Amino acid sequence: MAKLTFLGHAAFALSGDGLDSVIDPYLTGNDLTTFKPSDFGNVNYVFVTHGHADHIGDAVEIAQNAGATIVSNVEICSYLSALGAKCHFMQVGGSYRFPFGKVRMTPAWHGSGIRTDEGMIYGGMPAGFLIEIEGKKVYHAGDTGLTMEMNLLADDGVDVALLPIGGNFTMDIEDAVRAVPMIKPKVVVPMHYDTFDVIKADPVDFALRAAGMSEVNVLSVGESLEF
Ligand code: NI
Ligand code: MN
Repeated sequence: MAKLTFLGHAAFALSGDGLDSVIDPYLTGNDLTTFKPSDFGNVNYVFVTHGHADHIGDAVEIAQNAGATIVSNVEICSYLSALGAKCHFMQVGGSYRFPFGKVRMTPAWHGSGIRTDEGMIYGGMPAGFLIEIEGKKVYHAGDTGLTMEMNLLADDGVDVALLPIGGNFTMDIEDAVRAVPMIKPKVVVPMHYDTFDVIKADPVDFALRAAGMSEVNVLSVGESLEF
């Protein structure tokens, strides 16, 4: 069985045969999470969708402590490699077959600049991930608006889709509801809401409106889904 645990915001732990990973591990600074970087001393991969601080988060600390490989785009990997992290460089639209399964970086309609003390650094194209584990497919949309590219995922047989619903920086509930029949996932888990004032959203409202198109599973922080 593969296992997905919600860590708050857009952060998830995903594990299965050959994979023990975190995605967008924004833990330090997130008052709504109960997790800390030291909880993930055994991960072998860290996925980073784009360069914003609420997604890179604790990626470097977790990867270095655990000896894990960060998977992200070329620009973010270049930046994080210089900080001492081990990285697997990819690019949007590209797929790679890892020992645990195939991973594709999917398009996201967003930004990816990396804010540093010296100003904003170019973080390449923002992305999502389609991650295959134990023959199942998990789609983490990253931060994105509603895009036509989501239609392409309908042919992939997505088992679990993690979709932002908080609005302002990403899709809101209305747009996330429109995304569901485009992606056609078996299960949807809402994410990227409530962490900041401008992304307040009610996941139960999303669940009611998406019901009938897909199973919706609202995970509270620390809650897991097995599939
Ligand atoms: Ni972002
Ligand atoms: Mn974000």
